[in-house]
Amino acid sequence: MKYQRLFLIVLTTFVLSLSASEAKKAIEKRIAPVGSVCIEGEECAKAVAASEVVSTSEMRSGEEVYTNACATCHSIGLAGAPKFADLASWGDRPDEGIEHLTETVKNGLNGMPPMGMCMDCTDEELTAGVQYMLDSL
Ligand code: HEC
Repeated sequence: MKYQRLFLIVLTTFVLSLSASEAKKAIEKRIAPVGSVCIEGEECAKAVAASEVVSTSEMRSGEEVYTNACATCHSIGLAGAPKFADLASWGDRPDEGIEHLTETVKNGLNGMPPMGMCMDCTDEELTAGVQYMLDSL
């Protein structure tokens, strides 16, 4: 009888402490900050950095390439550049085909510096830029 009571007391204490720790966890969960701050160098910051790389390596559209790099010369025909949306100034250049035209841009030609001054452009982006200009004609 004596041991039975002791056992009951031990069991009750155990159950009580268990539920107390459960309750504590629940409270901690409830008062946890909604958005936690990510500091550079921490594990979570690595994920952010990785996603930034992905977003900057995304391909720019022909319009973006043209506006940022090519428009300086091609919008006004600077140094004899064939003008945007002005078929006459292009002569028979469009007949040369997109590959050849893009190759010319990569290498540069007379007044046009190599890469059309878009030094970080990929081949695809240069092609898109040329295509955007051809589409305007
Ligand atoms: C500094 C001025 C300048 C910039 C910047 C420039 N171009 Fe040009 N571009 C020219 C000139 C000048 C010509 C004409 C060259 C010639 O035929 O003598 C030309 C010619 C071209 C041609 C015709 C090529 C051929 O085979 O006849 C294309 C296509 C072209 N540019 C596309 C682009 C693209 C795309 C960009 C941007 C990524 C760009 N250019 C940036 C000046 C520029």
